[in-house]
Amino acid sequence: MQGLATRHAPSWRLIQAHFGLGVAGLLAFSAALAVCAPSLQGFFFQPALLGLVHLCVLGWLMPIAIGALHQLVPVVFEVPVRSERLAWIAFALYAVGAPGLITGFFTLDTSEPAGLLLTTSATLAALALFLYAVNLLATLLASARRTLTGAHVVAALCWLLIAVALGALMAWNLRAPFLPVFHVLVLRTHAHAAALGFFGLLIMGVAYRLLEMFLLSYGAPERAGWIGFAAVNFAVLLLGASFLGAGDAFLRAGIAAAAIGTGAFVLQVHAIFSRRMRRRTDVSWHHTATSIAYLALALAAGAALALLPVGEPWWDRLHLAYGLLAIPGFIGTIVVGQLYKIVPFLVWLHRFSRFVGLKKVPSASELLPEAPKRVQYFAMHLGMAGLVAGVLVDSPALRTAGAVLFAGSAFLFARNLGVIHARQP
Ligand code: HEM
Repeated sequence: MQGLATRHAPSWRLIQAHFGLGVAGLLAFSAALAVCAPSLQGFFFQPALLGLVHLCVLGWLMPIAIGALHQLVPVVFEVPVRSERLAWIAFALYAVGAPGLITGFFTLDTSEPAGLLLTTSATLAALALFLYAVNLLATLLASARRTLTGAHVVAALCWLLIAVALGALMAWNLRAPFLPVFHVLVLRTHAHAAALGFFGLLIMGVAYRLLEMFLLSYGAPERAGWIGFAAVNFAVLLLGASFLGAGDAFLRAGIAAAAIGTGAFVLQVHAIFSRRMRRRTDVSWHHTATSIAYLALALAAGAALALLPVGEPWWDRLHLAYGLLAIPGFIGTIVVGQLYKIVPFLVWLHRFSRFVGLKKVPSASELLPEAPKRVQYFAMHLGMAGLVAGVLVDSPALRTAGAVLFAGSAFLFARNLGVIHARQP
């Protein structure tokens, strides 16, 4: 765990601001999901779903991913963040742009002058993400270290730039259409570049490094990791090309590459896990293992949509289930699991470490007992299971029960992190 601390790390306030925004985003997303659950059905392009998707990714997952990157990149690559001031400027733009964009999606009013909210906020949020990505890429390129995690982070940031550029273009296109292709085709490319290209590669690369640190695992071979890296990059390229009209062969090859990437990721995680010196596993590890199950299910749902003659009503239901499994399921679960490790460690580092040897201090993992984390784990995954099942069998009652349970788990998660954050030596 000492691997997360370094003299190069940026100020703790920067990380706290991003994690705080992300947890607030999770609470807002889970509450909105519970409210919308009864009517969560139909074609995926609709205001409530656009709003929910972006509340989830931009409100909850993105600030946490960006905060974690600012802590991890300087540590792993032994260089300070290129400009902490730029990171704060990006944060300010993001804190204005992202909520405006999400509100713009929920209302989806493209008439004048209301449509300005969507386009202006999309531009601000996109600019913020560009600044973050460029600042982090400049930080990474200043380092002489070339590693598996580094390659994943660089590629993930490049996909983020592409996804965000497409997102901003589509927002302007919604107000006054100018794109030469149907917007839903661009939407698919945007969503896969963001979800699989950015979040997928980021999670893979960062998970390898964090698992090595948390499980005290050294010397695992990296071949599977590199195969996964190549396969996922190819998958995003091939899927993007197929959505934009390159044809079925690209689609099939893209799905095969995504499956190879997922398999290689699991093999690499297994290689790290099997060399661990810390034998005891905790809730954080259970979240990580569960997230891999969501990833496999999302892949199965995506492959079924692409390869089987799925008709209505299953077409819409399977699309929604695919989105739920991939975004709050896979990405959200791994984010929750890793925050249970990162936050206690940072609180311990900044508040407790200086008292080591002077008085008795708890370890990072002792800042919160396991029981509330376990309750949160079960509520979160029972909730997700209820939601996905409710979408598939079109049961408003099941969807609502699942969403309420998920919201309960989100509040318990925020409470658990709050307890850790409030601990004093
Ligand atoms: C500043 C950043 C972003 C902007 C400006 C943006 C913009 C947009 C726009 C305008 C659409 C609707 C496109 C259309 O059909 O006309 C859209 C759809 C979508 N975006 Fe984003 N986006 C951003 C970030 C993200 C991220 C990070 C993800 C991560 C997964 C994401 C996932 C999606 C998904 C899944 C949809 C389809 C939702 C649905 O149809 O219900 N977006 N985005």
